[in-house]
Amino acid sequence: MAEDQKGSFSVPAHIAIIMDGNGRWAKQRGLPRNVGHRQGAKVFENICGYCQKIGVKYVTAYAFSTENWKRPKDEVNALMKLLVQYLRSEVSELHRNKVVLRVLGDITALADECRKEIEESIELTKNNTGLVLNFAFNYGGRDEIIRAVKNVVDDVQEGKINKENITQELFANYLYTKDSPDPDLIIRPSGEQRLSNFLLW
Ligand code: FPP
Repeated sequence: MAEDQKGSFSVPAHIAIIMDGNGRWAKQRGLPRNVGHRQGAKVFENICGYCQKIGVKYVTAYAFSTENWKRPKDEVNALMKLLVQYLRSEVSELHRNKVVLRVLGDITALADECRKEIEESIELTKNNTGLVLNFAFNYGGRDEIIRAVKNVVDDVQEGKINKENITQELFANYLYTKDSPDPDLIIRPSGEQRLSNFLLW
């Protein structure tokens, strides 16, 4: 947060979080990795509450990347289950607090149960006016850009847009992130300093 001359702080409009370090947190305590992920999800609830309180407008959580499919099957299943449990237990309260829930990523590849829960939560909260909570789930920045390029090419071929009219603004409208401003702050709790295919554009 930037400090102005009067010593007060301006609140970032969009905070993005790469939710890592859970495995290391669990290992340090002799616990299974999945306990670390559950703890990560709990901390995330607190973060969202705090963001709402201080007036952050957008929070984006990198909860499952396109690379995460390479993790052991048990861990992948546990992460999917965790998202379903999170939505089942939190969505009513998020809705009461006027949160708009959105997903960045290809959810068609997810199991029916998971996809359905996500779609219902999006539908329930779509007209809310409060904090926008983006879950990046089965999301990868490179995948997002390739998908956008394909859709732009389709639209050029179908005559919906002209090649000459392709600008940064137009292209940004083909991305999963089209309805959110660029992040002001990216937090990586583990302390790693890399983007790991997150919000590349
Ligand atoms: C990567 O780092 C983190 C993940 C693959 C999963 C993060 C997901 C969650 C915390 C759960 C989803 C959230 C909600 C709110 C449902 P790592 O934890 O494997 O870190 P390491 O580098 O310490 O091993």
